[in-house]
Amino acid sequence: MLVMKDKINFRDPDQTLEFIKNSFADSPKRLEHILQVAECVHSSANELGLNAPLAYCAALLHDVGYLEELKVTGFHPIDGANFLSREGYPEIAALIVCHSNSPEQAHIKKLPEISISEDPIAKLITYWDVQTKQGGELVSYDQRLEDIVARYGEESDVTRAHRMAEPRIRKIIKEFSSSLDKAAKHSTTASNT
Ligand SMILES: [Fe+2]
Repeated sequence: MLVMKDKINFRDPDQTLEFIKNSFADSPKRLEHILQVAECVHSSANELGLNAPLAYCAALLHDVGYLEELKVTGFHPIDGANFLSREGYPEIAALIVCHSNSPEQAHIKKLPEISISEDPIAKLITYWDVQTKQGGELVSYDQRLEDIVARYGEESDVTRAHRMAEPRIRKIIKEFSSSLDKAAKHSTTASNT
């Protein structure tokens, strides 16, 4: 349930976290997923020297379009992004609208085209979203794909979109696995000197 007692500053991590916890209190598995993705995005953004508070807020909001009250198209990345644009946060809207396979899914569903962002924060959200199950468990992308096929069936739009997006998402995973590895090695070396 959408909980907005006052105007919320969606660039403020504490306010955004409270809003998400309250709004998704009725969907504990989804809430755990969101919180886990946001934690991982936040720590990776820190490691990579990106704007970590912005990355954290955007990750907390990536699935906001699932809230019943925000449903217009029924496609959560677009409904969530439209909500954030209306609230005055177009930069966060642009970071979340293209998360995971939403550009491919929008194409399959014949919804307005979603352009793919090259912003590293947008890619980080995808990186962690596709490796975090409902309930917050961290899994490999391959496991997540298997899970989706089992849940939705091979012929579903969701599975077709995942298959279509697979090469692009594998590239993101490769890119960020190696840059996060390098960042971790760099920080170990720095702390040893
Ligand atoms: Fe998600």
